[in-house]
Amino acid sequence: MFNIQRESIVRAIRHTRPGIVSLLMLMVLLGLLNWLVVNKSIVLYLFYLPVVFAALKWSRRDAVGVAGLAALLVISYAFFVSNEMLTARGKSMIWAELTGWGGILILTAYIVATLKTRIQKALADLQQAYDGVLAILSKFIQPVDTDTEAHCVRVSTWASRIAQELKLGGSQIEATRIAGLLHDVGKTEVSVKLLRKAANLSQEEKERILTHTTRGAALVKPVGGILASIADTVEAHHEKYDGTGYRGLRGEEIPLLARIVAVADAFDAMLSDRPYRKGVGVPEALASVTGVSGADFDPAVVSALQRVVSHDGGEDIFAQLSRTQSVPQVG
Ligand SMILES: [Fe+2]
Repeated sequence: MFNIQRESIVRAIRHTRPGIVSLLMLMVLLGLLNWLVVNKSIVLYLFYLPVVFAALKWSRRDAVGVAGLAALLVISYAFFVSNEMLTARGKSMIWAELTGWGGILILTAYIVATLKTRIQKALADLQQAYDGVLAILSKFIQPVDTDTEAHCVRVSTWASRIAQELKLGGSQIEATRIAGLLHDVGKTEVSVKLLRKAANLSQEEKERILTHTTRGAALVKPVGGILASIADTVEAHHEKYDGTGYRGLRGEEIPLLARIVAVADAFDAMLSDRPYRKGVGVPEALASVTGVSGADFDPAVVSALQRVVSHDGGEDIFAQLSRTQSVPQVG
């Protein structure tokens, strides 16, 4: 019985909104400052802090609720505890000031929360347009790359899951997602006939195909923003960890996102059916990638892929991703 009560108190505290907790803390401060500060009305400005916090963090209704509660607490305090706490002037002035202050506090909560909602909606629209453009762009890359649809989408998903597993920050995970999707964008500038030629490539033809890394970087860099930030990843995604890759970068000289995309690209390529061979199962693909860990791939990235597969079930993800054509979202 006692335990149940204790659990419900703990649960109630855990679910109490931090804005209201801040408000109650400010009430305690109010009491202290009432003794210390000569100009008592200055204390009222402190109540804007939890109200603005609530407006930025939660819904408009919650923010207005916090502002209303703040006004109610202060007016109750002034009425029941110290009706002279705010000013030495007449009582009618005290109530006029308190009413005006409470009204402006509630209005502030309403305006800040409304502006936040509008900004969030504008950002969501922009994100939708941005994902749509990326999806269109990836469809241009796929036909020249392989006959396997959604390879770029799957690479993007594997890469961003590895980035999450490596505990990268939100902006780096987003950059990994985009880099996975567009890593082969430079192939749009190499002839389709050459890209589809499965065997007997001359040295010159191999070199021409490999220029898709530098061509891709040259395409995304002038765009600016996040696309410019993935240019070095696009350029280095065929480097090998031991320095035997295209440009000879070694170990950590290769950008981390490029090391991630390289593993995701190779892993998904092994799983996918190609015109000249059948895709292998997840255990075989994982064993192949692990077999060249430290040579072709960064061991830390390979370990992260192993954890992703063991947590999420690689076969399931692959089957699920093979059915989807849309740009993956990072949760
Ligand atoms: Fe590539």
